[in-house]
Amino acid sequence: MGQYRCHVFVCTFGPWCSRDGDTGEIVKRLKQAAAAAGLKGQVRINKAGCLNQCGHGPMVVVYPQDRWYAGVSPEDAVELVQAELIEGRPLDRLLYHAPPGDNKDLSRYPPELVAAEQAKKSD
Ligand code: FES
Repeated sequence: MGQYRCHVFVCTFGPWCSRDGDTGEIVKRLKQAAAAAGLKGQVRINKAGCLNQCGHGPMVVVYPQDRWYAGVSPEDAVELVQAELIEGRPLDRLLYHAPPGDNKDLSRYPPELVAAEQAKKSD
């Protein structure tokens, strides 16, 4: 038995998901919805770095279920908490389907932006 029944990670510090949506607001609303459901102390909702699924964000992952969500918006937070943390089921409409491992796809971003981010990494 671990410390928490469930752990939710929101890619907040990665370079791309925060361009795809308001990841800080997603975290805030997930926490609010979990607290409103009386789940404080039972589940953890954390900001995370890049989850190596860039280009599909904002990305959210729920453990130990190992269920991944793509294109999450702040407006999805209440529904996600209801499904995953209260009912223990996936929120099908946002489920991320990809092969195991890294699945970066930066083709949706301007090439100059991708080049600038990659240059930062090589500094
Ligand atoms: S920036 Fe979010 S998965 Fe990489």
